[in-house]
Parts: sequence; structure tokens; C-alpha cells
Amino acid sequence: MRVLVIHGPNLNMLGKREKSIYGEKTLDEINALLRKEAQTLNVELATFQSNHEGALIDFIQEQADSAQGIIINPGALTHYGFSLLDALVDSKLPVIEVHLSDIYHREEWRAKSVIAPIAEQQIIGLGWKGYINALQVLASGLKAKTSH
Ligand code: DQA
Repeated sequence: MRVLVIHGPNLNMLGKREKSIYGEKTLDEINALLRKEAQTLNVELATFQSNHEGALIDFIQEQADSAQGIIINPGALTHYGFSLLDALVDSKLPVIEVHLSDIYHREEWRAKSVIAPIAEQQIIGLGWKGYINALQVLASGLKAKTSH
């Protein structure tokens, strides 16, 4: 089972940006924790970060056929990234949307996610642990599907 882990704009700055909101861990540290959990779950991961919507879309288009699910934190594209949304729909893969912070209890403009309607689940406000949670949810859902 292969899962795409996609990080949107500014998430390369984790560990430096607004630590009181996003936590202390860097993106590399979060990806390493995810890889460790993936090993336990026997899942292969492909991680990708970009500050550019088009690059995220290219990655999804290139990788979707060889993957079974997507974990994505779209960063601010969450709130207006309709091309990214279309690419996720076209991938036909189950999507789990992750946010480090609780987007519903911050500025008003963050409370709208254009991705949420197509996400199987949204995991918010759990910091880096939300990614681990997402991987567990996705892996158990995919395993349940393949055992039928
Ligand atoms: C975020 C929330 C977004 O509103 C913000 O633009 C981000 C990070 C989160 O993980 O909490 O870049 O997706």
C-alpha cells in the first residue's frame, strides 16, 4: 500500500513559523515520524512539499496511479485552492485532510475549507500527531477495503 503525503505552502517553514500555533517540529521531523509509523503499518510513503499549487497538482497527477490514498495539509490553499481540489477529485483516491491548528477557531477566513467536502476525514488541531492519526485512519480503511 502506497500513500502520498502532501504538504502545501509555507509548511517547509515548520519549526520556525508561528510555533505557538503550529508547534516546534520541522517538516523533516514530522515526515520522519510518519515514516516510522508507516513502517509499523507496512505502508510505503511518498512525501512532497511545495509552495506552488501547480507543483502540488503535477505531483498528484504523476503519482495517483501508483498510490492508494492521500494525506494532505494544503496550507492556505485549503481556503481557496480550487485547482488543487479538482486534482484531488481526479485522483479518485481517498483523501484525509490534516491541519496542525484548529482552523475553525482562528480567523474567520480560515474556517472555510474547499477541500473538506471531498475529504473522507478532516483531522484538525492535533499538531503533528494529526498526521500520524491520518495515516492510521487511512491504513485501516484501506486494509478493510482490500480484505473484502
Ligand atoms: C494550516 C492552516 C492554514 O490556515 C494555514 O494557512 C497553514 C497551515 C494548519 O496546518 O493548521 O498554512 O493548514
